Amino acid sequence: MPLYPEELIEEIRSRNDVVTVIGARVKLTRRGANYFACCPFHNENTPSFCVSPAKQMYYCFGCGAGGNVLSFLMQYENISFQDALSELAARAGISLPEREMSQAEKQQENLRMRLLNLNGEAARYYYYQLRDPAGKSGLEYFNRRGLSPETMQRFGLGYAAEGYEGLYRYLKQKGFSDEEIKAAALARFAEGKKPRDYFYQRVMFPILDRSSRVIGFGGRILGKGEPKYLNTPETAVFDKGRNLYGLHLARQSRRPYFLLCEGYMDVIALHQAGFDCAVATLGTALTGGQVLLFKRLGKPVILCYDSDGAGVEAALRAIPRLRSGGVECRVLSLEEHKDPDEFIVHKGAEAFEERIREAENAFLFQSDVWRKSYNMADPAGRTAFHRKLAEELTGFTEELERENYIQAICSRHQIAPAHLKGLINGVGNRRYQEDIPPPALDDILPATPGRGREKGPAGLLAAARLLLNWAALSPLAEGQIRAILRETDMPQENYRQLYRLIVEGKTGEPLQPGALLSRLVEDGEMNQLAAEVFSYSFSETLSPGEKSRLLSENLRRLRQAALQAALRSNTDPAAAGSLVKEMAGIRALQIPESDI
Ligand code: UTP
Ligand code: MN
Repeated sequence: MPLYPEELIEEIRSRNDVVTVIGARVKLTRRGANYFACCPFHNENTPSFCVSPAKQMYYCFGCGAGGNVLSFLMQYENISFQDALSELAARAGISLPEREMSQAEKQQENLRMRLLNLNGEAARYYYYQLRDPAGKSGLEYFNRRGLSPETMQRFGLGYAAEGYEGLYRYLKQKGFSDEEIKAAALARFAEGKKPRDYFYQRVMFPILDRSSRVIGFGGRILGKGEPKYLNTPETAVFDKGRNLYGLHLARQSRRPYFLLCEGYMDVIALHQAGFDCAVATLGTALTGGQVLLFKRLGKPVILCYDSDGAGVEAALRAIPRLRSGGVECRVLSLEEHKDPDEFIVHKGAEAFEERIREAENAFLFQSDVWRKSYNMADPAGRTAFHRKLAEELTGFTEELERENYIQAICSRHQIAPAHLKGLINGVGNRRYQEDIPPPALDDILPATPGRGREKGPAGLLAAARLLLNWAALSPLAEGQIRAILRETDMPQENYRQLYRLIVEGKTGEPLQPGALLSRLVEDGEMNQLAAEVFSYSFSETLSPGEKSRLLSENLRRLRQAALQAALRSNTDPAAAGSLVKEMAGIRALQIPESDI
């Protein structure tokens, strides 16, 4: 990581407020000094994901994910430290100096270039196969599906013929090695067998990135059979979560929105019908990386998912992701037809244009779907449905926006606005009282006053975490701890390392967790430990008496364990004497309230 000076990293970090950056991606709700949300890193219904403006860090009390603004971006967008730093630098208007690529990075970059070339060659091969007598059945297939020669050309469609090694041999002849072909996943290599093409007897859809480079393929079987579509697995150049089928064309479109579909054929049929803003996910659910793409491109998304159960399910998953990513979203009804391709074939472009105009607000669409799972003839069912609406509406934290949604929902489902607002207030209060208890000290730290202390190694670790937290956040306590505890008294190597960092970083001011975390973002285990340690905020809530007791007790515990270990392994009588003496002193250790 020391590719950039630490001061520059710190400058970039400190100019990007953790609440603002996370808040742009996750809906945060203020509770006291902190902000809470449902954790974006694990599935939950009650918010345990906490963002602290004072500490400039986040921590999930449910799954333990935590860190500073840099590690959040890395985790959330699934990007490297370098990319997260660039993004935050750009956000703060700071320019990063050019830097030399490391040897490993150069190698990786070379491999990427080779794989892009290789994929390009493969696409060429498939393309010519489709136009070859050997590709007759492929061409017939596309003709049957109504694709014009121009469309086939625009999408570079191709054919993988029968036979097991046509592509493999072609690529070898072009000078690519087995390793490269394997890395592109274009052939299967099994021990003791000849390499076999990954795709055969399939019509081929090359998948291009934004710069129109071939990064992978989808291949469809001609008739019935499984799998219907075979896709290139993830490779060094094929990241399914960060690309969209058709985006290289759609980003040039003049239409003021994107049409998001499920299938390759849907995209192609829409483009052929003049809807050149259509894109599709790559055989997976919509990802955070794709939401970010839309966000950057700055146009709303109209969902054109299949009208069957699976399509509705997928839409229900995509909508909240788009919403929390700040991408405006509407839902288009394909009713009577399964997918956009079929719709276009049967109803034509005019009718589709009409459906675009009628595309519905995504929240209203969701509310219709929810409604179906309640028995509206039963008063209890109706009430439950209204409560569900109220709960979901609390997600709109902006007053005016929420008000508008309340109006729209009430008129759609014939509810009295006063009734719904009453429910919303009820939900709000309940959330505050029940759902988001500030994580209790007892849940985090076994060794707290008034609670049976945990014995054994787990108890020691908990004691060490508490002391580390205190050393980091309270300069006075840091002095007390340092006077008694050695680095080697920490029960594990990662604890020792963190203790060293905290002690080295002391300035007489409470340490800024967000800043220290920058040095750990690339070390998953250390970062997690530090995030957990810094997440505790108990010292604000304890009385001076409790603080003194807690600090003394845990200090005694750790130091005593260390002394006992030293005694056990000691053979020198003189040293034993002084160890025993210190032990007696430690047993009586009591840090005065006034010194914390
Ligand atoms: P669909 O089954 O809806 O296919 O899958 P489709 O797009 O309507 O295709 P046609 O019209 O039958 O040819 C939608 C998308 O899901 C992925 C593909 O990306 C496909 O385009 N998929 C589907 C797979 O990856 N594997 C499969 O076996 C099926
Ligand atoms: Mn289809």
